[in-house]
Amino acid sequence: MNEQPDLEGMSALVTGATSGIGKAVAEALGRRSAQVIVHGRDVIRGGTVVDAITAEGGKARFVAADLNNTAELDELVGQVGAVDILVNNAGFSWFGPTHELDVETFDGLFAANVRAPYLLVAALAPKMAARGSGSIINVASMAGLIGLAGGAAYGATKAALASMTRSWAAEFSPAGVRVNAVAAGPVLTGAAARDRIEALGATTLLGRAAQPSEIAELVAFLASPRAGYMTGAVIAADGGRTAV
Ligand SMILES: NC(=O)c1ccc[n+]([C@@H]2O[C@H](COP(=O)([O-])OP(=O)(O)OC[C@H]3O[C@@H](n4cnc5c(N)ncnc54)[C@H](OP(=O)(O)O)[C@@H]3O)[C@@H](O)[C@H]2O)c1
Repeated sequence: MNEQPDLEGMSALVTGATSGIGKAVAEALGRRSAQVIVHGRDVIRGGTVVDAITAEGGKARFVAADLNNTAELDELVGQVGAVDILVNNAGFSWFGPTHELDVETFDGLFAANVRAPYLLVAALAPKMAARGSGSIINVASMAGLIGLAGGAAYGATKAALASMTRSWAAEFSPAGVRVNAVAAGPVLTGAAARDRIEALGATTLLGRAAQPSEIAELVAFLASPRAGYMTGAVIAADGGRTAV
């Protein structure tokens, strides 16, 4: 069932939409009548998200790609063609003592969280600019804005994404493409890091972690023409954690 069909006629690629925040974003965009390309690596969970969107009357299809593999990323771009909305959400975090992070994981963090969004924007934003419209939303993190013990490498990837957001706004917004980021606080997305997320949530002004839908609502707003005057912004959705 549609909420506000303000994305009618628009296509959207949501990376990392097989779980967590990306899944909630894909579903939120689907409810607003966008044609959603659900991306991820897990075909079964991808199919479940597509089914959930179509069951609500939306339009969606799944495309698999490991974004750390540039050949697979290129194949994804080829299958997508052109989109009106790009949500760079896929990524992962690693928290722990700096000396315990191995080089492979360090490089993986930057490949997934920085290089992949860069390459997707490089491939898709010029097509948006040529058409004179488009909206790109990058899922950043409060970890890129403040110092969190154990989060040096992950925070650096999200600070880079926030920086790229501003540069891309400067590059593409004169041609009508809006580029914004959401700096999310702790979000309850999986069982794995639940204790850490809940502990971090307790340090926010609201005293809790977010639900994925609370981030997805903001992303859907930024994707829509309702946010028509917003570009180059890095918006905190962090329970006030970075406000004080
Ligand atoms: N949860 C939080 O507290 C929080 C806070 C701030 C920011 N964020 C950011 O929000 C985004 C989503 O996080 P989440 O908590 O929702 O994570 P999640 O539940 O683990 O989901 C991550 C998604 O990204 C995909 N993905 C990861 N690496 C990939 C790769 N190399 N190639 C293709 N797909 C890849 C996964 O695909 P498959 O599962 O199909 O492999 C999955 O769909 C991340 O960028 C994260 O840094 C999260």
